[in-house]
Amino acid sequence: MKPEIAIIGAGYVGIPLATVFAEAGKRVVLVDVTRERVDMINRGESYIEDVPSEVLARLVADGLSATTDYDVLRDADTILIALPTPLSRQREPDLSIVLGAVRQIAPRLRKGHLVVLESTTYPGTTRDEVLPILEETGLKVGVDFHLAFSPERVDPGRTDWTTKNVPKVVGGITPACTERAAEVYGAAIDTMHRVSTPEAAELTKLLENIFRSVNIALVNELAMLCDRMNIDIWEVVGAAGTKPFGFMAFNPGPGLGGHCIPIDPFYLTWKAREFGFYTEFIELAGKVNEEMPYFCRSLVSQALNHSKEMSLKGSKVLVLGVAYKPDIGDMRESPALKLISLLDNAGANVSYHDPHVPKFADHGLELESVPLDPAAYDVVVIVTDHHSIDYEKLVDDASLIVDLRNATGAKGTASEKVFKL
Ligand SMILES: NC(=O)c1ccc[n+]([C@@H]2O[C@H](COP(=O)([O-])OP(=O)(O)OC[C@H]3O[C@@H](n4cnc5c(N)ncnc54)[C@H](O)[C@@H]3O)[C@@H](O)[C@H]2O)c1
Repeated sequence: MKPEIAIIGAGYVGIPLATVFAEAGKRVVLVDVTRERVDMINRGESYIEDVPSEVLARLVADGLSATTDYDVLRDADTILIALPTPLSRQREPDLSIVLGAVRQIAPRLRKGHLVVLESTTYPGTTRDEVLPILEETGLKVGVDFHLAFSPERVDPGRTDWTTKNVPKVVGGITPACTERAAEVYGAAIDTMHRVSTPEAAELTKLLENIFRSVNIALVNELAMLCDRMNIDIWEVVGAAGTKPFGFMAFNPGPGLGGHCIPIDPFYLTWKAREFGFYTEFIELAGKVNEEMPYFCRSLVSQALNHSKEMSLKGSKVLVLGVAYKPDIGDMRESPALKLISLLDNAGANVSYHDPHVPKFADHGLELESVPLDPAAYDVVVIVTDHHSIDYEKLVDDASLIVDLRNATGAKGTASEKVFKL
């Protein structure tokens, strides 16, 4: 049977999106260049923690499939693009993956197609970059085919807000494009929010990520000040969080992580320059947040110095948690990577334990998760606060802890061997 919806990119965004449509009874096909991923999906094996393999296997048995063959796009009515939008080494937007896929869509585009870009990007991408490639075919947007932007807002690991119940923002090139996109998504997703243009939808996503980046930077800056003033930043954030209005609590930490927040804001910074405009909040937040792994290394160094009269060089350090956020195995842009490399550069012998990340390679280091034996190390550094760890026991067992997440709570605050960010 012909698929109704084709999703290009079987990743953290594409797979949950495919399952939501499949659960709503739609015939869905995922298109991906990575043969192993395609084979795994077709065997019903999920590598995304948000989509359990049992669920994927059931949906695959009901017709959900994956392929490396772009020709399936000819049959589908709707084509959704959920491909990575990284930064280049010079931290400029790299749209090559998305535009490469659009060039694959163009020769297969036909009357009646709906194409929606979901990848996070700067305002103007859908209209100025995607549309011209599709219109080179001679087909006209709003007449022959529809084109829209609709940002993905998935938060990996989250169970209360999912692809299905987070409102979906849609902005089409023409009002008919918006309506068509809202109709297609509305068949599977609970709430639609229409905006007047793709540019408004593109900027909506960037605003959401910039909001987080700026607020995290603010509290990170305060955390560094609190260290000098000997004030507990966690106590302050907790107290401010009791205000029922006008305040939203953000926690400090060892730096930004994940595929979105460290990267996406710079898509706007780059675009703004074209308009002679400097997005200073974004740049400042980036600067403060990028400083955090360096500050955290100095915290580890100070803790060893004060409590054990040891230097980092030659010390045995256990990093606890390396994924970029709790309870998932996603390592993309994880601040643990930078911190581990800084500790390693300083001559520390770094090991790590993470129940979600069996091994990783980065910055020339190849590490495997070791068993959790806190007593075997000079210091344990809590970088990611996975909930499966018993932090009370950790405080009992370790000789020295640097807690960058307030995972040890009141017990850690009361303990002389716990140094908190
Ligand atoms: N991960 C998140 O939490 C999240 C949240 C919101 C928005 N986004 C945005 O969604 C977009 C996709 O992110 P993701 O996290 O799903 O990426 P991902 O890296 O998890 O998945 C991308 C997939 O695309 C495949 N791919 C690469 N090039 C291809 C091509 N030319 N044709 C077909 N498949 C190809 C890869 O093999 C991979 O399976 C990005 O723009 C991202 O910023 C991500």
